[in-house]
Amino acid sequence: MTATLLDGKAIAGQIRNELATELHAWTSQHNIQPCLAAVLVGEDPASEIYIRSKRRACERTGLTSQLHRLPEDACQSELQSLIDTLNHDPAVHGILVQLPLPSHFQEPTILDAINPLKDVDAFHPENVGRISQGRPRYLPCTPHGIQQMLHRSGLKTSGKHAVIIGRSDIVGKPMAMMLMNRDSTTGAATANATVTVCHTRTADLPQQTRQADILIAAIGRSRFVTADMVKPGAVVIDVGMNRADEGLSGDVDFDAVKEVAGYITPVPGGVGPLTVAMLLYNTFLAAKIQQAMP
Ligand code: GUN
Repeated sequence: MTATLLDGKAIAGQIRNELATELHAWTSQHNIQPCLAAVLVGEDPASEIYIRSKRRACERTGLTSQLHRLPEDACQSELQSLIDTLNHDPAVHGILVQLPLPSHFQEPTILDAINPLKDVDAFHPENVGRISQGRPRYLPCTPHGIQQMLHRSGLKTSGKHAVIIGRSDIVGKPMAMMLMNRDSTTGAATANATVTVCHTRTADLPQQTRQADILIAAIGRSRFVTADMVKPGAVVIDVGMNRADEGLSGDVDFDAVKEVAGYITPVPGGVGPLTVAMLLYNTFLAAKIQQAMP
């Protein structure tokens, strides 16, 4: 069998078009221009690429964006002071601090400093807590993009077994909470899964992954998921973006797994474009939430 390709680029384009239409009507009604402030510390080449693509997507969709750069050797208090300024700037609706930060920063303290109402990454403990209680404000962009992709491809998760490889705060943990919750932004059919989270200490990982109706690989190890780890007909979502001299590769051995899976995402052109689209969604949502506040 050859799997059906889940075209993230096309689905992201669809979401951006919907957002652009809604945004145009909203901005003319309220005379407010939703704005994302991106913060980049240092000159990590991958982070530079991500920030450029996020800002370009803002521009194409009708959102404003700002880029605030700090040098590699900036200190914790300089970054906190910049976040404080952005927290209090009424023209800024969303704040994104590109990760990873240089190693001398205390990342959790920095993320805690972002006003939860402007936290368009949904990394603040208040926003994470809300997701775990099934009453989210913002959803983290990559897991939300995956849920949107499943929904828009007609794939249900309710009653299915979802296996996630990776327990990161950015993808694995929030994805698990969102799939096990009773409802989602795309309805109950793309929630209500039975969820297993696997990680580096999981015993007999292939035995776990072979149980998956939906397999989500988010571990950052190139072509880690091989064909023998996949149940025939499963939906395989590849979150990996592994950069090496040979180019970009995912966490899934695409050529072999596509012969076993029912559906599969490519890298690039799978989850990545959806992550960016959902950041635009969150920035617009942040502007709407802030506009509606007394
Ligand atoms: N680095 C890798 N992924 C992300 C993300 O989703 N948000 C931020 N801020 N940094 C990242």
